[in-house]
Amino acid sequence: MKPLHILVLSVLGLSFGATAHAAQSGKDVYAQTCALCHAAGVAGAPRFANTTDWAPRLAAGTPKLYDSAIKGTAKGMPAKGGNTTWSDAEVKAAVDHMLASVKSAKPDTAAKAAPAGGAVPAAEPAPLPAAAPPVAVATPAPTATGADVNAFNRLLKPVGKRNPPPPEDGIHDPSNDGTHALLPPLTAYAGLPKSFAGNRVNWVDSLSSKKINPRWDRIDAAADPIVMDLNIVREVKGSMPDVVYPHKQHTEWLDCSNCHPAIFIPQKGANAISMAAILMGEKCGVCHGKVAFPVSECRLCHSKKKDIVRPAVAQTAAPK
Ligand code: HEC
Ligand code: HEC
Ligand code: HEC
Ligand code: HEC
Repeated sequence: MKPLHILVLSVLGLSFGATAHAAQSGKDVYAQTCALCHAAGVAGAPRFANTTDWAPRLAAGTPKLYDSAIKGTAKGMPAKGGNTTWSDAEVKAAVDHMLASVKSAKPDTAAKAAPAGGAVPAAEPAPLPAAAPPVAVATPAPTATGADVNAFNRLLKPVGKRNPPPPEDGIHDPSNDGTHALLPPLTAYAGLPKSFAGNRVNWVDSLSSKKINPRWDRIDAAADPIVMDLNIVREVKGSMPDVVYPHKQHTEWLDCSNCHPAIFIPQKGANAISMAAILMGEKCGVCHGKVAFPVSECRLCHSKKKDIVRPAVAQTAAPK
């Protein structure tokens, strides 16, 4: 968990003055956007400086990798990492930075072997373990395979693995006859508004267009939710747009007690929320990536453009 933490600090540090957006180096773009997934390998993203992860991709050639990074892929790489304010050139520079990490990883492996041969003074402390995958996450690991159904981000599934029929979804018991009587999701979702993420249904639109009419109370068919229309804006440092948290869309589905007070203290600004926490399945990540749209949909949360009048000092002060 620690490396993610450090990473977030560097995100904050590097992003001052970035709003005006003078061209950024590949390293900066990586730190501000790509590292969110590529440091720890979220959702199967090839990890920074991990030769094993990158080997099969390198074979496709750099132009293909630029293309995937700019346009995104069906297997979970969002276009430009979800931040479309980056220029194509900046995204390419970030790819170059990532590829360089894999190339520089080779000498490091050699260095590891060296002390055994006695060629390197043993006293020399290993500097930064640049080639080591930065994270040994303590949480249940097999997210990419979906073996653990509660594992982080099980909504970021490869094509063909989405919305499997109930006996194959890893949630329902295949040995129970009732499971086979359930309507498969693909059939059930056929008439609903589409989205590009999660289980490919836009649930907010499905509800507001009355395509579905879920019962609020299991026993009382006439009960209605208490819908509260209150937006909370959370300012985000750096170049990402601010986050608008809408109570309306949430309270149409959820009870106040689903969030208050266990996940969020009901007071604006009283909760420390970070992307790292969300990626680890805390705060907004208790639901998003599990039962609500996943973190790849940056724009749905980061929906408020910044008022970009920043003092010119910020630009000139930015060292890189
Ligand atoms: C929300 C998580 C996420 C973010 C943020 C993200 N990536 Fe990815 N990336 C992925 C995943 C998941 C894959 C593997 C998808 C696949 O195999 O197609 C991937 C794959 C890639 C690949 C390999 C594509 C291929 O064709 O093999 C490149 C290159 C890449 N990302 C570059 C970037 C760059 C550059 C950024 C920052 C501008 C970035 N990524 C940000 C999740 C992310
Ligand atoms: C999906 C989670 C969620 C649900 C459900 C939810 N809230 Fe909230 N609520 C939040 C978040 C997030 C904040 C902002 C906290 C912050 O900024 O630190 C918040 C803030 C608040 C605030 C503080 C507003 C302010 O200006 O200080 C009140 C009051 C509140 N909620 C009441 C409710 C009530 C009443 C309900 C049910 C009708 C409800 N909430 C349902 C997540 C939720
Ligand atoms: C208790 C579960 C839960 C928590 C916690 C939660 N959400 Fe949600 N959120 C949902 C559900 C369910 C929906 C509606 C289904 C969907 O869009 O996938 C939703 C919808 C949304 C939408 C509406 C998108 C649209 O299409 O209009 C936004 C924006 C959003 N969430 C942001 C957040 C943010 C930001 C946080 C953290 C501050 C958060 N949510 C925390 C469950 C949750
Ligand atoms: C479910 C809602 C949600 C989604 C989806 C989401 N974010 Fe965030 N993000 C947040 C919240 C909430 C914060 C904390 C804002 C604050 O400081 O109060 C945040 C903060 C950030 C920050 C500031 C540094 C930090 O870690 O706190 C960055 C950078 C960021 N997000 C990038 C992204 C990128 C890139 C994506 C898409 C790959 C993304 N976010 C998707 C809700 C979301």
